Order: sequence, then C-alpha cells, then structure tokens
Amino acid sequence: MSKKKGYKNYSFFEDGKVVLITGASSGIGKNVALALASYGTKLVIVARREKKLIQTTRQLRKLKIKVLPIIGDIRNKDDRARIIEQSLKKFGRIDVLINNAGLGKANLFLEQPISEIDELIETNILGLIKMSKLVIPIMKEQNEGHIINLSSSLALLPVYPFAVYCATKSAVKTFSDCIRDEVKEYGIKVSTVLPGPYNTEFHKVAGLDDSSYQSYSVSKLAEKIAKLVIKPKENLIQPWFFIPLVWIATRFRFIRRKITLPISKSIIEGKIKKEKVEFKKEEEELKITVEIP
Ligand SMILES: NC(=O)c1ccc[n+]([C@@H]2O[C@H](COP(=O)([O-])OP(=O)(O)OC[C@H]3O[C@@H](n4cnc5c(N)ncnc54)[C@H](OP(=O)(O)O)[C@@H]3O)[C@@H](O)[C@H]2O)c1
Repeated sequence: MSKKKGYKNYSFFEDGKVVLITGASSGIGKNVALALASYGTKLVIVARREKKLIQTTRQLRKLKIKVLPIIGDIRNKDDRARIIEQSLKKFGRIDVLINNAGLGKANLFLEQPISEIDELIETNILGLIKMSKLVIPIMKEQNEGHIINLSSSLALLPVYPFAVYCATKSAVKTFSDCIRDEVKEYGIKVSTVLPGPYNTEFHKVAGLDDSSYQSYSVSKLAEKIAKLVIKPKENLIQPWFFIPLVWIATRFRFIRRKITLPISKSIIEGKIKKEKVEFKKEEEELKITVEIP
C-alpha cells in the first residue's frame, strides 16, 4: 500500500486504523488526538462538553483528519453503548481505545463528600472498565487491538489529600496488568500511562491552584502517548525522571514518604490558595451586586 504524503512513515496507520479517545475536549486527550493527526489516523473523540469537543473536532478537520465527535458521559450505560455503536457505524472497527477520561478531587478523605467519591470511582474505574468490556469483544473479533489506560504516577506515589483519586488510579494500573495476560492470545495489547503533573484542566477540576507546584508540557506527553499507539509497551511513565523516582519509592517505604509528604503538603496549600481566591471572587461579585440599585 502506498504511503500517504505528509504522514509520518509508519505502516500502522496506512490502512486507516481507528483510535477512540475518551476525554478529548481538553488536556491530555485533546493533545493526543492532535498528536495522532500527524499519523493520518481516523479518530473517534468523546467528552461531555459539546463546545469544547467541537473545537477539538475543528482543529482536527483543519489537519484533514477523519474525525467523529460524540458527546457522551462514560459513566452512563446508554452513552457507552452509543459511543461504540456510532464508532462502528462510521468506521467499521475500533483498533485502539484510549481510556483517558478522568478526574481528580483534592480533598482530605474525612472531609470528602460521598458524591465526590462516587464521581471519582464511577468515572476513573467503572467508566474505564465498562468501556474496555464493550471494546474487547470487537478487538477479539478483529484479532487485534490495543487498550491504553490512563493511570497516574500517584498510583505508585500515593499522597493523602488525593486518597480516593490515588486508589482509582492504582485500580486502573492493576486492572491493566491483569487483563493484559488474559487478552494477549487474541492479539490485544494493554498499556498503562502513568503521568506526573501536566498542565491541563486537571488541577482546576481537582480544586487546586496550579501556581503552587510545577507542571510539565502536555504536548510532549501527548507525543509519547501517540508513539505508544504505534509501538505498544506495557507501561509509560512520564516525565522520564519519574522512572527512577517511582522505582526507589516502590522499593523503600521510608524514602517514598520523604517524597510523598511534601507533595501532600503542597496539595493542601494549593487547595487553600484556590479556596481563598474563590472566596475573594465571590466577595467582589457580591459587592458589585449590592452596588447595583
Ligand atoms: N494532568 C495531570 O497532571 C494528570 C496526571 C496523571 C494522570 N492524569 C489523568 O489523565 C487523564 C486526562 O486528564 P487531563 O489532565 O487531560 O485533565 P482534563 O484537562 O481535565 O481532561 C479530562 C477529560 O476527561 C473528560 N471527562 C471527564 N469526565 C468524563 C466523563 N464522565 N465522560 C466523558 N468524558 C469525561 C473531560 O471532558 P468533559 O468535561 O467535556 O466531559 C476532559 O476532556 C485523566 O484520567 C487524569 O486522571 C492527569
């Protein structure tokens, strides 16, 4: 088959492989979609915020990419079924599922409302597992496929103001490690991505002030994930210097605490800072409303 002009020189996408990305309205998912565009793949992109998803779609279409945007919530059974149905109707197959949709909530466990715990577990664990459950039979039928699950470096470096989030991301890592051996015989590969802090909307959603700590460029991470699509490997830890950090922390508990305790403290400070900013904003808005006759 002839190579498409301008596309990177990988045979993987020559016959039009289809990549389904959940959570592509912002952050990592959006940037992975844009990074994959240079490989000429067909994309299905999913998220709840219509306006933002359409923005991603427009950017991809400018790059001449075949893209199907689907507004949907991965927590919802009907939405999950519709995502799969519409993907198959449009492209006839699903070669790669990037289970990226997810969120964190910075909170002390004792103060965390049950609604927040439910949202974290339903999105990060149940949504991801149930999307995989729908896609694996399709990949089995195709005799090939690849599932990429977004975990977090916090799965291996647990920090206490993110207890439930860390637990969900550990579950993602364990789930990936378990199903990898089960689905291997059907030609299906499973990868786990364990990022450190990246500059996305994650911190805003988590209720943190992002100026309180350093985060890294999401476009670089997206390039690495796009490469993982072409050349699958079991685990991708980014940025690279988190590899020795995680290695040491998982072997020596006292060193792990030396690493994680300052991170926990900076998360609490980030949360307090954000709450103060929001309180001030509310006060100012109230003043303006009161001044209006
Ligand atoms: N950024 C980091 O530092 C970091 C580090 C480690 C791991 N991660 C993981 O990376 C993944 C992507 O996060 P991000 O950093 O890119 O954050 P982000 O910018 O907030 O993006 C999260 C994406 O997930 C979507 N999403 C959330 N809940 C959803 C649901 N129920 N159904 C469908 N889509 C949903 C959001 O879209 P809508 O709101 O429009 O639905 C959005 O597109 C997450 O799983 C996160 O845990 C992030």
